[in-house]
Amino acid sequence: MARVNVFDTTLRDGEQSAGVNLNRLEKIEIAKQLERFGVDIMEAGFPASSQEDFNAVKEIADTVRNCSVTGLARSFKSDIDSAWEALKGGAEPRIHIFLATSPIHMTHKLKKTPEEVVETAVESVAYAKQKFPHVQWSAEDATRSDYDFLVHIIEKVIEAGADVINLPDTVGYTTPDEYAKLFKYVRENVRNSEGVILSAHCHDDLGMAVSNSLSAIEAGAGQIEGTINGIGERAGNAALEEISVALEIRKDRYDFQTGLVLKEIKRTSDLVSKLTGMQVPGNKAVVGRNAFAHESGIHQDGVLKEATTYEIITPNMVGIESNNLVLGKHSGRHAFKQKAESFGFELSEAKLKEAFSSFKDLTGKKKEVTDEDLFAILTDKQTEN
Ligand code: KIV
Ligand code: ZN
Repeated sequence: MARVNVFDTTLRDGEQSAGVNLNRLEKIEIAKQLERFGVDIMEAGFPASSQEDFNAVKEIADTVRNCSVTGLARSFKSDIDSAWEALKGGAEPRIHIFLATSPIHMTHKLKKTPEEVVETAVESVAYAKQKFPHVQWSAEDATRSDYDFLVHIIEKVIEAGADVINLPDTVGYTTPDEYAKLFKYVRENVRNSEGVILSAHCHDDLGMAVSNSLSAIEAGAGQIEGTINGIGERAGNAALEEISVALEIRKDRYDFQTGLVLKEIKRTSDLVSKLTGMQVPGNKAVVGRNAFAHESGIHQDGVLKEATTYEIITPNMVGIESNNLVLGKHSGRHAFKQKAESFGFELSEAKLKEAFSSFKDLTGKKKEVTDEDLFAILTDKQTEN
């Protein structure tokens, strides 16, 4: 089974989510949890962007021992120097340099010719390689770049010392089959790519970040990048908890493994949500409040008989204690009885029937029937003559 490296960028791309601003201590707390989660590489920030980010990246690199810590840098010597000062105390220092390669970015943002972009990229990678044992180079907006230009610039940066090449879908534009094609094209056409890891970095503008990442893995990506809860610029990045659980649950299809400790998923998700202030949507895959909640009578009955009828992931696998049978207007008598028993009520069948009917009446009046409501109904029935 092939091993895929997990590159977490919650503290860099994730922190670029609108409205998120983590302080040094919050970043360190998240970094320690990411280490427990088992990521291979964590991007702790962008050291040249501010003194605060520099300090946080440095403290994380000096503290975290079980994974490689990296920091983002533009193709400037000053950014690379700043990254080295922040990261040099790390267990396995690594820099992440990026430069845009798409016609749109080269023309309008960089205002450079393709030849100038190649020259800048090569110079920056060669300079970084004098300091860093590992250099990752990203072709920003790779999915809207010309394939043959990509092949050319990638060959040059590998010659200059890059050992990981990232092909980001910066604006979340690609589709699973296109992204797979890009990885295959680069692997087959870059002459010196042997021993070099190709990395996938997907954004979720069209809701395809996780599918695109899985597709890249199948097409030969040896590293996937993403964030916890899928937070990040605009619609966010690929959610690492979703990718890792998909690889585990669909082992029949994906013959790949990561070093992630899936049981740490819930704790990691909760911490990131709390410290960033970004709430996890209730219906979010794997970690949403409703991901293991069953509301309809048919589903509840099925799950009570055999959980696998409606659950493909066991809550335990991702660090959640149990599933949750939510009592609402679609619920049936089986789940109601189970809830009453879990509260410690032992009602006769007749009383239980009456209580169930009061509960059904209430679902017509209230959007959400709480445990307190149920408790009150059951207490009434138990105490009445
Ligand atoms: O999405 C992107 O292109 C990035 C780069 C900095 C790698 O985040
Ligand atoms: Zn990104």
